[in-house]
Amino acid sequence: MTDTRVPRRRRFLVCEPRHFAVQYAINPWMHPDTPVDVDLAREQWQSLIHAYRTHGHDVDTLEPAPGLPDMVFAANSAVVLDGRVFGSLFHAPERRPESTHYDLWFKTAGFDVHRPEYVCEGEGDLVWTGRYLLAGTGFRTTREAHREVQEFFGHPVVSLTLVDPHFYHLDTALFVLDDGPGNNIAYFPEAFSAGSREVLARLYPDAVLATREDATAFGLNSVSDGRHVFIAPQAEALATRLSEHGYVPVPVDLSEFRKAGGGIKCCTQEIRS
Ligand code: ARG
Repeated sequence: MTDTRVPRRRRFLVCEPRHFAVQYAINPWMHPDTPVDVDLAREQWQSLIHAYRTHGHDVDTLEPAPGLPDMVFAANSAVVLDGRVFGSLFHAPERRPESTHYDLWFKTAGFDVHRPEYVCEGEGDLVWTGRYLLAGTGFRTTREAHREVQEFFGHPVVSLTLVDPHFYHLDTALFVLDDGPGNNIAYFPEAFSAGSREVLARLYPDAVLATREDATAFGLNSVSDGRHVFIAPQAEALATRLSEHGYVPVPVDLSEFRKAGGGIKCCTQEIRS
């Protein structure tokens, strides 16, 4: 079965954690008195970039700005589909200035950037499945933004309600394993409202379900290229299940970023042209 999984080459945008810190608390993982080891964070982050490049993916970087400790979480900066950029409007005032830097990077790279009207935190809450977007709400991105995103891209948007503050972004509770013809996802059902769980069960009867331990280890904050799954090594049960489904787990330890409530996917913005 393993041999049937075919990777697709990706283009990622990332931002070095040079100014990474926990200076405010906007999710339950963040405790501003916890010291962050910036050197360890940078090493861990570099191991992620290395893993992407050795698996054939293109990685672009943007210069980090001082005073923006969460800027490393590139996934929150936009949603990029069909070469079109839907920018972010952060919920927390502390993160709002990040958009200026990301928008400038996109414009310099030749993209137009749509400025959203409603709170919307990019790929943190908007997940492209290859056929439509799954969209999280409950803590950050609003339902109004879901409608705005659907209107902008002309792709269907399926709204899902998140109910556990530990899984405040959709990408902490769900990721796409395959965005090709074998479209499938992995997710942690308890992060969703009852109705949203039903929606996911109807759309993805063959999904890989994760445990609370997997989710708490940020195992659902993973990136898949259709074959390799870049995943937190602490999410052992999930990695085993993925192997059984023919995927190849590539462990990358970003433990230092958990102090800010982030993991592999949070640090990775996919650019789809
Ligand atoms: N401290 C950041 C926040 O709470 C973490 C963002 C994580 N990003 C993500 N895509 N889930 O906004």
